[in-house]
Amino acid sequence: MNFWTHLLHLAGSGAVAYITAANIRDSKTRPNVLAGFQLAESGSVPFLEALSQRAANEGDEWLAERLARHAQDERRHGQIFAQALKRLNKQVIDFKSLPKTDTDERRRSPFFEAYFEGYSPEQLSPQTIDWMVFFASTYILELDASKEFARMARALPDDDASVFLQKGLLSIASDETGHAAYLHEAMQRRVSYAEAEEAIAHWRTRKVNALLAMVGNLFQRSGKFPSMVQDGVSPEMAALAEEPAAPELASV
Ligand SMILES: [Fe+2]
Ligand SMILES: [Fe+2]
Repeated sequence: MNFWTHLLHLAGSGAVAYITAANIRDSKTRPNVLAGFQLAESGSVPFLEALSQRAANEGDEWLAERLARHAQDERRHGQIFAQALKRLNKQVIDFKSLPKTDTDERRRSPFFEAYFEGYSPEQLSPQTIDWMVFFASTYILELDASKEFARMARALPDDDASVFLQKGLLSIASDETGHAAYLHEAMQRRVSYAEAEEAIAHWRTRKVNALLAMVGNLFQRSGKFPSMVQDGVSPEMAALAEEPAAPELASV
């Protein structure tokens, strides 16, 4: 990573962490932040499971096992956010009830479009994605997520209502650190240390550029995120939130 990218990275992550921390601290914007995380965390599960299957087919048991555990962790993270939403008597909106164009608008992430610029959907599918692309791009996201979730936990007000979410965020942060660690190891099992560092630097630069793209998009929307929550809890969501996702949090 060159020095300029490094500075922009620090500024970019700082700005995003600041916006997210402010949005999670504010009880009016908190549900939308939680819903966004629930969708992102649960959404990664089928992808990771398919990758685990592929690693097993390719004879890499070490990787298959870690990817399977990674998928389980992300499912648990989604459930923690679902539970936190349920405690606010909210749930993720039912995308089926929205007009199609509206759904596309909400789902399209300018961040991911920019992060994976130049890659076709086919090249990013779990069946074909280049392993090094997966390891390095995900390593960067997991590493940053671990710091951002810990920062969000600290940003929450110190009241009884926040204890569940605070503990949940800290346990998620520690899982994300573990994900970054095994992805780093996975890279070093395949390429030299120098090549792994080069791949990491490449994806760090991409992330900085993607953050800039996202901030630009946010300004166009005059600082508003599209809403992803609705009031009440449907039976399916209640069931999801009830799954014993986080035994260590059940008593909170
Ligand atoms: Fe996660
Ligand atoms: Fe993760």
